[in-house]
Amino acid sequence: MRLPWTDRTGRLVPLKLVVFVALLPPGLWIAYALATGQFGGQPLKAATREMGSWALRFLLLSLAVTPLRALWKWNGLIAVRRMLGVGAFVYGAAHLALYAASQGWDLGKVAAEIVLRVYLTIGFVASVAMAALAATSTDGAMRRIGGKAWRNLHRLAYPIALLAIAHFFLQARLGAIEPQIVAGLFVWAMAWRAAPGKGPGTALALGLAAAILVVGAETAFFAIRYGAPVDILLAANLDPDMAPRPVHVVLGFVAAIAAVAFVRARP
Ligand code: HEM
Repeated sequence: MRLPWTDRTGRLVPLKLVVFVALLPPGLWIAYALATGQFGGQPLKAATREMGSWALRFLLLSLAVTPLRALWKWNGLIAVRRMLGVGAFVYGAAHLALYAASQGWDLGKVAAEIVLRVYLTIGFVASVAMAALAATSTDGAMRRIGGKAWRNLHRLAYPIALLAIAHFFLQARLGAIEPQIVAGLFVWAMAWRAAPGKGPGTALALGLAAAILVVGAETAFFAIRYGAPVDILLAANLDPDMAPRPVHVVLGFVAAIAAVAFVRARP
């Protein structure tokens, strides 16, 4: 059997080994924190949240491979996209298992919760679709399904990410900022795919557009859901005491990506 950090000829691919190793610490830390009682009064609930957050972060990283590969002129990045996708699936499965554990492994109750609570139903649909992508990410499945059909199937990663972000938003607490950041970077990665230009300038312009969208969506979300005053929500984005706000983090990520692209674009 081929090791995850080797290529088709069995040769070691250092980038694959680095990413494989980097996928492990969050899960190991969550297991350790759970085992040593570091998750406070509701450890399984906290561990479920942590594991879910990492599932979404790795899913987003797998979607970032295409723009980063082109922007940074780094073809080798393609070698780790599958690993990041499968990593997201494994963290998603662990997330679901932790949730079942938090329900005392009462699978009937888990199923009822998934049917009755919209954010769990959305999470479930995303999990089933992730399982389908994970099951078809082997070399054999690629060959059997064939290039074009396989690529179309794996474009399911886009709606999966959208569902997972909606799942995250719907259960987010007032003051949480990560859902907005993830949403902003997702919008950027999707807009980049659709954009005619593929250079660092385009990346920056799309980053600005995604950041403005985040401010708009965040303001609308908290104004509607919690009745928070719009002017205060908007002003918070300019208040240094409130920094970093999601808009700052999204702009920061995109600026860093574009800066590397500018450097690599220089003759
Ligand atoms: C059947 C499938 C799923 C179930 C039952 C489920 C269940 C849950 C539950 C119960 C929470 C809230 C934890 C709490 O505060 O009590 C949660 C949060 C979350 N889930 Fe899921 N989830 C599922 C699928 C997914 C998938 C596929 C992803 C990502 C790829 C995901 C990402 C997240 C994230 C990011 C959070 C928020 C964590 C936070 O607040 O810090 N979930 N999920």
